[in-house]
This record gives sequence, structure tokens and C-alpha cells, in this order.
Amino acid sequence: MNKTIPIEDALKRVHLPIESANGLPNSCYVEHSAFERDRDCVFAPGWISIGFGSDVPANWAVPVELMGYPLLITRDKNNTLRVFHNVCSHRGMQLVTEPGKLGTGLIRCKYHSWTYNFSGDLIGTPSLGGPDINQHKDFNPEINGLKPVRTEVWLDNIFINLDNTAEPFENFLSPLMQHWSKWVTADALKEFKPATTHGKLELVVNCNWKLAIENFLEAYHLPWVHPGLNTYSPLSQHYDIKRGENFSGQGSSSYSSPSGADGSLSSWPEDQMKYAEYPVLYPNTLLGLQSDHFFTMTILPISETESLERVQLMFLGEVAEDNKYDAHRKSVLEGWREVFAEDIFAVEGMQQGRRSPAYQGGVFSPVMDQHTLHFHQWIATRIARDL
Ligand code: FES
Ligand SMILES: [Fe+2]
Repeated sequence: MNKTIPIEDALKRVHLPIESANGLPNSCYVEHSAFERDRDCVFAPGWISIGFGSDVPANWAVPVELMGYPLLITRDKNNTLRVFHNVCSHRGMQLVTEPGKLGTGLIRCKYHSWTYNFSGDLIGTPSLGGPDINQHKDFNPEINGLKPVRTEVWLDNIFINLDNTAEPFENFLSPLMQHWSKWVTADALKEFKPATTHGKLELVVNCNWKLAIENFLEAYHLPWVHPGLNTYSPLSQHYDIKRGENFSGQGSSSYSSPSGADGSLSSWPEDQMKYAEYPVLYPNTLLGLQSDHFFTMTILPISETESLERVQLMFLGEVAEDNKYDAHRKSVLEGWREVFAEDIFAVEGMQQGRRSPAYQGGVFSPVMDQHTLHFHQWIATRIARDL
């Protein structure tokens, strides 16, 4: 049995050339302190997807939890979407516990009835200055509103930056958009709309969030884990996407649109219709770009050994919304559900294997695992800052 290597030394091994590198050590996948370190060093400084705009109709407030932090997504009657910390400024009551429409347009704390509007302003403080006296000269409501979280919405994905230190969102996105400029412009991508039916699926997987990312990054497992997919999109037709600073992934050159709906993005070149790409925007946003539809899978870590995968499909024009395409949307969603479900035993098996003291981060195929190592190095760089 091997002795556990100190984390500092283990992280140095992650940065070795791929022929001699080891992956992140087991502790990064099984310990609660590592989960909290991921939250503080990887998620808080980054652009993190936490859900979909379609989850939040106008006048709704939807609570979400990110690695133990209670957050609140609101959309006002003018369609402006905001994210706040889901906590009352008074005595720290969690404000909203269930998603729902707030017909009054107000968020009221159930404890002492302080009230906030959808912009986060504190607009009601009943009896704050004594019975039936709602103000006090020494209390300034203007500095006691909800605490906002930096938020951007792209392709209906809600991205947040918790600690306010991330680069501008356009900079975060631009390496991927440059890479995709061979097929699409930012404007053309806006032709995709969330599917109104059969547009979402969720899977809870018993693994650390990083294993779900790593599995998505490589096509190596295709012949054994996805034998059906491998018949029409075989491993030999997959290629590596050039790694950017904050993304990597794989592409296929044998994609074929599911029958049932015509149409493709207006900017997509005719001779490239068989191409599709599946990058990860680090750390937790998995994307699938095809000429006729798009998906996002957001990985939300629940604990060090449990993660929620949330998927939203988008289609073009009436294919996204019209009843006559309901069966088409269903068949595309069920196709992806089958593929994603096939991966569950693999990511859960890797989690189980990480209980073994004989495993010290493992080794990599110099050819097939380059993205996995790239992701490990990206993580190792961030968590090393906290050691
Ligand atoms: S804790 Fe919310 S009003 Fe007192
Ligand atoms: Fe897979």
C-alpha cells in the first residue's frame, strides 16, 4: 500500500508532462475540506452557471443553493433577472425557501416582515422604531438591501461570480467564441431558444463534481460506455478541441441531425453540418453545439460525493416552441438522457475507486487524456493558492 503524498507534492505532480504526470489526489474527491476549498478557490472566483433563465418567469423568485450558500434568483415584471444572497439583512433569516410567483412584486421576510423589492431595495421595516413606527433616525434602509451577486445571462444560462474578482464576462467567453467563429457569431447563437416542452432533465450522480467534468472532457470511453452512440459517431471521428485557458473538450465530425425538424443556425457553413462540439467552460458549464440544437449541462456540487446535473435543450425558432415539434423535442431529449445516463456508472465507479489508498491520482494516456490533465492542472493552480 502506498503512503499518502502531501497535497503540495501531489499538486506538483499534476503539472509534470503528461507522460509522467499524476492526477489530483484522492483527498480532492473525498474530503469535505476539499469541497469547501473548491467552493472558495475554484467556484467563488470564477464564472459559475447556476441555472437557466427559463426557471424564473417574470415576478418569480427562485431559491438555489450553491455548495451550501443560499442564493435567490429573481425576475421582475420588466424581465430583468437578478441574483442575490438569499438572506434577510436583519437577523439572517433565509428569505425564500420555495420557487414561486410573488404577485405583490415584494419579497417579505417571514420573521419580522421586513420587505424588499425585486431590485433588492429594503422598502418596508414595520415597527422598526417601536410599535407602529416604521423608521428610526439611526437606521438607513438604503444600505440594508439584499446583497447582490454579479450576474450575466448567456444563452439562457445564468452565470454568477460570487467574489466579484472574475474578469469581465465577455473576456471569459471570448476564447470559446473565437474558437466557434468558424461556425457561429454571438448574434447567430441567439437564434437558439429554450425548448418549451421536453427541454430539461436532471440527474443526481454519486460522485464529486470534478469527475462529471472529467468524463465529459474525453471521448476515450465512447466505445465501451456508449456503444449505441459509437455506431454513428465513433471514437475515430472525434477530435480534440484546441485547449483555451478556460475551456477544452471534444468534437465530432460525424454528427447527423435527428430527423423530425429541418433548419440550422443561419451562420453555419453548409459543408460543416456534420460537425458538433462539446466543450467545458471551466469549471462547471458543459456545452453541446450542433447546427440544429444546443444544450447546456450545469454541474452543481451537492457534497464532496454528490452532484446535480441539470440539462437544458435549445432549438431554433418554432422547433423550440411549436406544438408540432413536441415529439421531435422529446426524441432529442430522450436521446441525450440515454447518453448521459450511460455515463453514471463510470463517474460513480471512479468515485468509489478514490477510496483506495493504492490510487495516487492515476496516470494519463499521452494521447487520449490531454484534456483531463488540462483540467486537473487548471484546478491544481487554483487550489494551490489556498495551501
Ligand atoms: S430576520 Fe428578516 S425581518 Fe427579521
Ligand atoms: Fe460519456
